Amino acid sequence: MQLSILLLAADRSSVQALAAALTEAGHGVTVATKPEDAVSAAAKYSLVMIDAVAPPVTVADVVTMLRSASPPVEVPVLAVAPSAALDDRIALLEAGADDVIARPFDEPELMARIEALTLQAQRAQIGPGVAAIGDVNRHRLVTLFSPKGGVGTTTVAVNLALVAAESQPNKVLLIDLDLSFGQVASHLNLMPKQTLLELSRDETALRDTELFRTYVIHHASGLHILASPPSPTFSALISSEQVEAAVTRALEAYEVVVVDAGTAVDQRLGVLFSQSESVVVPVVPEIPALNAIHTLLDQLAESGRIGAQTLFVLNHTFSRDLLKQADVETALGSKIASELPYDPIVYLKAVNEGVPVVRGAPRSQPADRFRSLATTVFGTGLVGSLPVAAKPERRGLFGRR
Ligand SMILES: Nc1ncnc2c1ncn2[C@@H]1O[C@H](COP(=O)(O)OP(=O)(O)OP(=O)(O)O)[C@@H](O)[C@H]1O
Ligand SMILES: [Mg+2]
Repeated sequence: MQLSILLLAADRSSVQALAAALTEAGHGVTVATKPEDAVSAAAKYSLVMIDAVAPPVTVADVVTMLRSASPPVEVPVLAVAPSAALDDRIALLEAGADDVIARPFDEPELMARIEALTLQAQRAQIGPGVAAIGDVNRHRLVTLFSPKGGVGTTTVAVNLALVAAESQPNKVLLIDLDLSFGQVASHLNLMPKQTLLELSRDETALRDTELFRTYVIHHASGLHILASPPSPTFSALISSEQVEAAVTRALEAYEVVVVDAGTAVDQRLGVLFSQSESVVVPVVPEIPALNAIHTLLDQLAESGRIGAQTLFVLNHTFSRDLLKQADVETALGSKIASELPYDPIVYLKAVNEGVPVVRGAPRSQPADRFRSLATTVFGTGLVGSLPVAAKPERRGLFGRR
């Protein structure tokens, strides 16, 4: 992909090597040394990279100038932080930079970030304004993933998919790709006879959309489900090529596909990430886990395996939290898209009865949170006019099949 890059530097000589590397990679590079020149010319370029500016102005000041210009500059902005310190990175993201790269950086890392930023900007341009269901280029494949288990990945996946299916019955598919202990069917009180395992053994169905449809289960809500294999022993039998074929058929057969990818970081996850418009990552307020997620996602982004929009959902699965949202954002190096408060009853009841929150307790605060998260993930075109279900679905605690 050839880009026109505006590179803002304190002086030309300091960016000679950088400009040469970008030109070598096939991009057009213009160097500016005055922030005001960069701000007035920025809109003409496909990406602005701010390397350094002469004091007392800071790189963050220039990002703010770009974003508060009239009209605001919408092109992707890559800011260079003087060090890898989190504070520097957060300040630049808060000022409005789309991505931050810390000194010292090497060439492949820089090129991968430029590529990822440009892809994101292109995706965002495809559907300006609200995203509507059936708008084939936006929010069609949403992957839920967390490197840590027990953080609410399945709960969020199931509730998001149900909200989408409320507005588009029979047009939303939820795939359980947690191949170790997939729990989607259990959250929905379903007993699948056919799963991804049987599908993966049927080569014709992996190639034929209509046959593919025969492997999904229909839930009373209008949501369709492709269940995970019955036991973790089958996980190794499902290849990344089969996952890719299943996702491709799913996107042909359905308007929206939500995937519960569980926790495994493997080739199959790479396939999913490369096709997803959004990756939703539930996180719990625990610093070591957050640091690990930050590192993992940075590595995936740098290797080009994740170009999608990543949304973090802060899920308070404990009754007491010692960390505030700001602490969590600092550890993640990213903003939280949505917060799910702890609830001692609603979630537990939902998993025990097999009736997810948005159906079993549609007027509860957790259900409200899932609806607004769905708007963030899918766009208001999909969920904007959703009625809140008047009557909750009831099922006895022991009324599961
Ligand atoms: N905000 C919350 N408040 C209280 N309980 C919650 C909350 N979010 C999730 N839970 C509960 O936490 C448990 C784990 O949730 P869930 O199964 O969705 O997590 P998971 O990340 O998919 O786990 P696994 O790694 O086992 O697949 C469930 O019993 C769920 O009801
Ligand atoms: Mg799960």
